[in-house]
Amino acid sequence: MSFLDWRSDWDTGMGEMDRQHQRLVHLINDLHDAMKVGQGAGRVGTVLHWLQDYTETHFQQEEALLRARKWPGLNRHLVLHHELLDQLGRYVSDHDAGRHVSSLDISDFLRDWLINHIVQEDKQYGAALSGTAV
Ligand SMILES: [Fe+2]
Ligand SMILES: [Fe+2]
Repeated sequence: MSFLDWRSDWDTGMGEMDRQHQRLVHLINDLHDAMKVGQGAGRVGTVLHWLQDYTETHFQQEEALLRARKWPGLNRHLVLHHELLDQLGRYVSDHDAGRHVSSLDISDFLRDWLINHIVQEDKQYGAALSGTAV
């Protein structure tokens, strides 16, 4: 059983965004597994950087979509993405600098922000924009 299992009610209805969200869940599971089995810091660091890179890519693409579709909640959404990337960046910096990063903290943070963000924020644009051409 995975740390996080995708649920169909997390779908936004925007196909490419949903595929990217599922990829994020997959990476969070990989990170959790790497931390759980006590793999070396190298593996944890590698997955953490993949996750950071993919989160940035996803946010950029999502923001471009919302901008193109003139989503009225864009500015608020930009702030939320920025805050999430800031926090993730702090975890990555701490890890890279060899400072202790609690694997529980980071797994819980990632799970909570991802799910809360998708369910409470991304689904809002999904409800408004889905059903029309992306
Ligand atoms: Fe978002
Ligand atoms: Fe998203």
